[in-house]
Amino acid sequence: MKELADLQTLVDHQDPVKTLRNLAKEFAGKIAFSTSFSLEDQVITDLIYSYQIPIRVFTLDTGRLFKETHKVLQDTNEAYGKKIEVFFPNNTAVEELVNTKGNYSFYDSVENRKECCFIRKVQPLNRALEGVECWITGIRGGQSDNRQNMDLVEWDNGRGLVKAHPLFAWTLKQTEKYILDNNVPYNALYDQSYPSIGCEPCTRAVKVGEPIRAGRWWWENPTKKECGLHSR
Ligand code: ADX
Ligand code: SF4
Repeated sequence: MKELADLQTLVDHQDPVKTLRNLAKEFAGKIAFSTSFSLEDQVITDLIYSYQIPIRVFTLDTGRLFKETHKVLQDTNEAYGKKIEVFFPNNTAVEELVNTKGNYSFYDSVENRKECCFIRKVQPLNRALEGVECWITGIRGGQSDNRQNMDLVEWDNGRGLVKAHPLFAWTLKQTEKYILDNNVPYNALYDQSYPSIGCEPCTRAVKVGEPIRAGRWWWENPTKKECGLHSR
């Protein structure tokens, strides 16, 4: 496998199609894209399907998603004639969690919240990424101060794979314009002041002027707001 510096030559900060094509070639059969149906994710899904780039597309259904998120999954499958792979949490782990701590343990402490995210997101993600050497996400640097310090292509130490974010350098405006210009299905919650959407009990609408991720785990200290999918 190429060194990270060599991989930098395969990616383009403004041209996600070039990035996706080159990485799909480099990691043939070992590359997958995780979608939460964010605007960024929908741009990438549209590119993968429209340009027929050979990259697996999967989502993690935590069991606590908004109905609007399920709707956009359905709309996307129908629009492109595809079936996005859906991964669910381990039933025994969820039953144990809910039967011992209830349905809302995540509000009680950061540890409890991380436990729920681990069971409902991280473990299924690890399963989805088995055999994968390059993981594609919809992260943009502009989503938070923390993410500003990431790079379009990086090494995920914990998982031992390359992680790439083809829209890393895109602005929100560029992303929104792509969605509207190309008639890409998107989550109806964006039009109800939800600029970042995760699980229903852990996401709320933001007020005008609040940061994009202010409505995610809003009761926690902002520096602790990564859920384990993207902790570094
Ligand atoms: S999170 O860590 O706070 O939940 P965020 O919602 O910003 O992440 O999404 C960033 C990227 O993580 C998405 O573009 C997507 O690639 C991946 N991701 C987040 N949640 C999911 C999910 N439920 N299923 C699949 N991918 C996800
Ligand atoms: Fe659990 Fe909330 Fe994490 Fe979803 S975001 S997995 S409900 S703690």
